[in-house]
Amino acid sequence: MVGGPVPARPMPLAEHLERHGGLLLQGFGGEGAPMMLIDAVERAGLTGHGGAGFPTARKMRAVAGRRRPVVVVNAAEGEPASHKDALLMRIRPHLVLDGAVLAADAVGAREVIVALHGGPSSAHAAVAERAAAGLDPVSIKVVQVPKEYVASEESALVRFLSGAPALPTFTPPRPYERGVNGRSTLVQNAETLAHVALIARYGDQWFRSVGTPEAPGSLLVTVAGAVHQPGVYELAFGTPLKTAFETAGGFTEPVQAVLVGGYFGAWLPAETALGLPLTPADLKAAGAAIGAGVLLALPASACGLAESQRVATWLANQSAGQCGPCTLGLPAIADDLAVLNRGGKTTNVRHRLDRRLSLVEGRGACHHPDGTARFVASALQTFAQDLARHQRGNPCPPARHPMLPLPDDAGGS
Ligand SMILES: Cc1cc2nc3c(=O)[nH]c(=O)nc-3n(C[C@H](O)[C@H](O)[C@H](O)COP(=O)(O)O)c2cc1C
Ligand code: SF4
Repeated sequence: MVGGPVPARPMPLAEHLERHGGLLLQGFGGEGAPMMLIDAVERAGLTGHGGAGFPTARKMRAVAGRRRPVVVVNAAEGEPASHKDALLMRIRPHLVLDGAVLAADAVGAREVIVALHGGPSSAHAAVAERAAAGLDPVSIKVVQVPKEYVASEESALVRFLSGAPALPTFTPPRPYERGVNGRSTLVQNAETLAHVALIARYGDQWFRSVGTPEAPGSLLVTVAGAVHQPGVYELAFGTPLKTAFETAGGFTEPVQAVLVGGYFGAWLPAETALGLPLTPADLKAAGAAIGAGVLLALPASACGLAESQRVATWLANQSAGQCGPCTLGLPAIADDLAVLNRGGKTTNVRHRLDRRLSLVEGRGACHHPDGTARFVASALQTFAQDLARHQRGNPCPPARHPMLPLPDDAGGS
């Protein structure tokens, strides 16, 4: 998809067309043909790259044939540790837009909305370039979404695109049933749509030529933390995590743990993580998930508890303030983690925190509290020895350089 070293500039339309050819549209005007792409996506075994890993063809089928559907490209990338969608939109905007137009073709939509953060970008320029070339039989517009973490959750996104605040709603109805302005809406992550474009062009067998039979294809991974060359890398599913870090130049110092999936993911001890292949099933068995495709190596010199507490505080501040267990529970969880991090006799706080973690799960309109609870629970497990040391009154000194990125370095203790 990215193909070798990451180029510094966006690929212009002419070069993109020369490399990948024009769009192979099937649906507009063609009886029954749209399902061909959905079938190919199904045979390819493509799953979503926005976090949940839902089968893409199943979502497309749920939208196909409904009245006046809409396609939304989720390129907002609310996860602070992930940079893959921003990179893709910057260097390969036409691949994502091809995927969106092809998906629109397949489900019978005439409208594509690209949702992203920030002002004028390569995405805006790419949309203008295509309009000038008269390339697409659909309207494409770019919409800037609020920067809050939950604003790019799909129900918040369709609500915002319908003119309301970007707050998640209870589901059902899901966006495919009732989305933008009440119309059936296919929300797909930007990277997912780039894969759709490649499957349409090169076929499902080509897609399956890398990866494993159960986890076919490739994915974009943001490799970060204690590595020599942090960045976004395209890796085949099934690649050992150890190889992923080697691809990023190897470790700069001994590593104690790996954050897998981002802040919606989980910490794993380094010895566990490095032995795993990058597949949803292997990561799930170890208690993690690919999530937004983040692999962050935490050096032995950093304090996992302090790092997790900063992020937990930020995540608590990201609650949309609509659901009691999330609005009240997440700050209480972050506060408990702060007390544990400060150290001293905190056995009762530890018990209270375990109880609080179990109380918030599954209790919000969106999965924000579940993700936060999973992240914190994995920190308590992975950094159990650090926690014991903090409890003995021997906490780590404050970090000079925090390892986990946060927007504007928010979320302090
Ligand atoms: C709190 C929260 C934040 C999310 N942020 C994003 C995001 O920034 N980008 C994204 O593609 N999906 C995000 N998702 C997942 C979307 O709700 C949705 O599942 C995804 O866009 C669907 O695309 P996919 O099937 O191609 O993965 C988020 C989910 C939650 C619960
Ligand atoms: S669970 Fe939290 S973030 Fe999600 S809608 Fe409710 S209050 Fe907002």
